[in-house]
Amino acid sequence: MIVDTIFVNIFVTLLTEKELSPLSYIITYKVNTKITILHNFMNNNITILGIESSCDDTSAAVLRNTTLLSSVIASQAVHEKYGGVIPELASRAHQQNIVPVVDTALKEAGVTVDQIDAIAFTRGPGLLGSLMVGTSFTKGLSIAHNIPMVEVNHLHGHILSHFVDLPDRELPHPNYPFLCLLVSGGHTQIVKVDAPDKMEIVGTTIDDAAGEALDKCAKVMGLPYPGGPIIDRLAKEGNKEAFKFAKPRVEGLNYSFSGLKTSFLYTLRDSVAENENFIEQNKADLCASLLHTVVDILVDKLIKASKLYNIKDIALGGGVSANSALRARIEAEGAKRHWRTFLPELKFTTDNAAMIAVAGYYRYLKGELSPLDATPIARYEEMI
Ligand code: KG4
Ligand code: ZN
Repeated sequence: MIVDTIFVNIFVTLLTEKELSPLSYIITYKVNTKITILHNFMNNNITILGIESSCDDTSAAVLRNTTLLSSVIASQAVHEKYGGVIPELASRAHQQNIVPVVDTALKEAGVTVDQIDAIAFTRGPGLLGSLMVGTSFTKGLSIAHNIPMVEVNHLHGHILSHFVDLPDRELPHPNYPFLCLLVSGGHTQIVKVDAPDKMEIVGTTIDDAAGEALDKCAKVMGLPYPGGPIIDRLAKEGNKEAFKFAKPRVEGLNYSFSGLKTSFLYTLRDSVAENENFIEQNKADLCASLLHTVVDILVDKLIKASKLYNIKDIALGGGVSANSALRARIEAEGAKRHWRTFLPELKFTTDNAAMIAVAGYYRYLKGELSPLDATPIARYEEMI
């Protein structure tokens, strides 16, 4: 505090005496910010507000360091009947939800806006209109209360969700380097994580993501969106050997799910031509066989990656990591292969702002603040 005050005083004096050029103003601002961050870090009391709005969940969370004080998620039921997320409806629902969601998160955490050290927001990847709502809201709050903004890559958030702690208990954290199988609606990747700010994608899908494939197969069975959780539930009552679907042959650690989707579609088309009640009569078996194939594909490459990099700390992340068959299989393989496996708490699997806040916390510690002209980014490839 004393260091801060002295620094601010010198800075203000110099500024009023016009001895600082615009460049030195920026440098001084940055140094001053870093001193504030260092000061807060040494006092162990950094408070981060996280905001997530990349797809169809509006979420806000408050963290004190890495401990979760509150987490609020408003999911958008409006998309269910359309069989997928409608971008315009998602943006509008974010607009309706964001103020009450942030307000509730602050109240549940028992903190006021002025106690927030930084606002971490999802800059991308995701739907542009959805991201724009979270980004613009963050800017408004940042200007009004003079709080720095920290941009977060949504996928880094999913991976770093393993470092969020709960108020009543610490959760198990993987050691660096670890491998994370990141499976969501938009991405399927194996990521080698060396540090919070040092990650390398060592395998990725060359077409559809696993979650996307599950959702599309669910749609052709007439199930509502998102189909992943419903397939999870129905599969428990089915026979996973009942149907055989094509498995991809892709080089290295990469994935492909579009062939499986087509194979599933053809099985349904041919069988329904012979028996119009085929889907209804075989739903559980179809779900179990499809899921079994998806899990096989995912886990095969993960085993390969673990051997290749000789890494045995294995984490799961993303919406599909809520899947019970995938979780059980990872645990079973882990036990067999002497892995330490890290399955996220269910509340940290699908999109949430706690993961954005923790990823923002690590960036904030490094003084990586975002400028006010930061714009959302839709595609992963364009992210920093
Ligand atoms: O991470 P997420 O919430 O959003 C993206 O970043 O994409 O992931 C959403 C995906 C959807 O495809 C959804 O069907 C899938 O996660 N999902 C599941 C389960 N829960 C969510 N898939 C299989 N089993 C589940 N229990
Ligand atoms: Zn996600």
